[in-house]
Amino acid sequence: MATILGGICTSHIPAIGAAIARGAQDDDYWKPFFDGYPPARDWLRSVQPDIAVVIYNDHGLNFFLDAIPTFAIGAAHQYHNADEGWGLPTLDPYPGDPAFSWHIINSVVEDEFDVTMCQEMRVDHAFTVPLSLMWPDRSEMHIKTIPIEINTVQHPLPSPKRCYAFGQAIGRALAAYPKDLKVVLLATGGLSHQLDGKRAGFINKEFDLRCMTEIVDSPEALAALSTHELVELAGTQGVELMMWLTMRGALGSQVRQVHSHYHIPVSNTAAGLLLLENAA
Ligand code: DHB
Ligand code: FE
Repeated sequence: MATILGGICTSHIPAIGAAIARGAQDDDYWKPFFDGYPPARDWLRSVQPDIAVVIYNDHGLNFFLDAIPTFAIGAAHQYHNADEGWGLPTLDPYPGDPAFSWHIINSVVEDEFDVTMCQEMRVDHAFTVPLSLMWPDRSEMHIKTIPIEINTVQHPLPSPKRCYAFGQAIGRALAAYPKDLKVVLLATGGLSHQLDGKRAGFINKEFDLRCMTEIVDSPEALAALSTHELVELAGTQGVELMMWLTMRGALGSQVRQVHSHYHIPVSNTAAGLLLLENAA
């Protein structure tokens, strides 16, 4: 059976991808951010996952305002990146695992989450940047990927409670896959940030630190927030915390925190990193 090794939550800011592309990791601005990542890479190297299930939010590359699904799952042989206008290099396609994707889709639909099924899906910075942080050298990235996408662009958004329950359904689906595969979950986005409007530049350190603690042992408390409360506390784009909650739902009830890192600001965003291992 498939085993969920654990999960990694990380910010996905495009400027991180740009810093990687120009080799700026040791610059004064970037070093305190990138210094948080080696423990997560070491852990991945030691546990050697076969599959990364990447829970992320598209920003208009694959889905646009004409048609936005609430929840979407990729079921392609490979996932192409494309130019989003951030000045990032377009990265090589990421291999998929359609059989595993269809298993997850069947399982979550059976569980009453009526997801959009994508046999083609272009993946944006929210997918590529975290994978580049985890595997800076693509020749060492021997995993297949399964993108799971959640709407944070067009209201109404799914509630935090719904995302947490979706994560629990994903967890049941993964655990029921009959192949002996080691799965790592990646949740991308957050923490607090607001890119536009009256509160552009808004960061809420107190709330971020609360998230990083509560997501470990009391995720239900965060899942109880309404979408509006989350926008108020984390900013309009800080709702990306819902990716973290979805991932937490997919992990077992007991998790062990292996590593955490918090640094503000990176671009306009509070950058958080959390590595949780399944304890059960
Ligand atoms: C930034 C953060 C994001 O989450 C994003 O998707 C784009 C930009 C930023 O802080 O610049
Ligand atoms: Fe984002």
